[in-house]
Amino acid sequence: MSGQESVAGSDLNEIEQMDKKHVFGTWSFQSEVSPTQVTTASGYTFSDASGNEFIDFSGQLMCSNLGHSAERIEDAVATQVKESAYVAPSYTTEARAKLGKKLAEVTPGNLSKTFFSTSGTEAVEAAIKIARFYTGKQKIISRYRSYHGATYGSISVTGDPRRLASEPGIPGTIKAPDPYAYGSSLDPMQSLDYIEEMLELEGGTVAAILVEPIVGSNGILVPPDEYLPRLKRIAHEHGALLICDEVMSGFGRTGNWFGCDVFDVEPDIMTMAKGLTGAYQPLGATIVNETIADHFEDNMLCHGHTYSGHPVAVAAGLAAIETYQQEDLINRAKERGEYLETQLADLAADHPSVGDTRGVGLFHGIELTRSSEERVPFGTREDKISKGGTIVDDVAKEAYENGVYVANMINTLIIAPPLTITEREIDAAIAALDTALETSDAAMDGVSETTEE
Ligand SMILES: Cc1ncc(COP(=O)(O)O)c(C=O)c1O
Repeated sequence: MSGQESVAGSDLNEIEQMDKKHVFGTWSFQSEVSPTQVTTASGYTFSDASGNEFIDFSGQLMCSNLGHSAERIEDAVATQVKESAYVAPSYTTEARAKLGKKLAEVTPGNLSKTFFSTSGTEAVEAAIKIARFYTGKQKIISRYRSYHGATYGSISVTGDPRRLASEPGIPGTIKAPDPYAYGSSLDPMQSLDYIEEMLELEGGTVAAILVEPIVGSNGILVPPDEYLPRLKRIAHEHGALLICDEVMSGFGRTGNWFGCDVFDVEPDIMTMAKGLTGAYQPLGATIVNETIADHFEDNMLCHGHTYSGHPVAVAAGLAAIETYQQEDLINRAKERGEYLETQLADLAADHPSVGDTRGVGLFHGIELTRSSEERVPFGTREDKISKGGTIVDDVAKEAYENGVYVANMINTLIIAPPLTITEREIDAAIAALDTALETSDAAMDGVSETTEE
């Protein structure tokens, strides 16, 4: 029996059943896991084992920035595997040195020296340790609506509800409110006043403030222009570093190289992963400015991994950056992003359950509401860690049935397609969402009563 036939009495085929039995699904009640076998992916689409094709409107986990057929990266990986698949981190390779130099060029200002790892969470772990080693202080302020990774340090600085099962986590982590104009009782700049007061009350004991410049999975939260510059200023006034987590917002997503470029801010430390290789290889990176780099000339950098600077991963990273540059993808994301924004505005105008659309470049969120006036969400933070789906899940499912994959989290659909996407695919995906949003429109408070009358 081929893996593509479904097993009697189940919607899952043989491979999917085998996977469900022997492989854990992430962040899930295992009884609810229902893996789909993907057999091919190309350009901005991927296909399942039954031959259904989907537009990848979220770049998988907001990481396939270069689509699914970036030849330069495919070739670089194949060549590197043949030349030397692995050497220990005490050796170097041409790609590792060149990628380090490229990152110093494309990141802002004085960011100049990189520690390589294999994921976003490891990039954040390195940033936390480096900030603590450099400042000699322990505390890290991060925000409630944030995600920084699943390992112990990163989940401890994460604010979203996925952290709760792992608490109390590492010591010295403190949470602050967020710049969330649509859904918080504090306006964004008031939330910053709150952080300033926290810094004062902590009395100079904070090593760093860690933020996603534009919050990703927690709802695509774009702060006002003056937010990030002021955050950096108040951090420095209190002897704390600014760490920007660019794991999701980096590498062209916003129509700029990095999310912090939108606000013209140079952090002291920056973390990267996802778009760094366009997800062709697992690679994380933590880059620091020259002053911090110099500190470790005579203070040990007490950190490392077997796969730090893995030759195949850094070869993919170097080829990815060359692809962004040679295909002018950062500017292209800006242009396509403007088009996407107009389409989303039309969608919002047609669907009362769309409470808010927001974003920059090809990084947008559609936040849903069951009541436009009260801004009541369909999905809550509690739902994220409870059994069963929400109306937001139903909307995503409906779009999927109409051939469009769109990720969703808590109460927001997350749009982050490959930067190579064309206007035609954007139109097709928006049309599928247009149909899918009828599900949430119909579930709004008062709608069924009105229909029954
Ligand atoms: C902003 C941010 N930081 C860190 C991470 C963790 O990255 P990874 O899943 O590669 O460990 C993520 C993952 O989505 C993220 O969005």
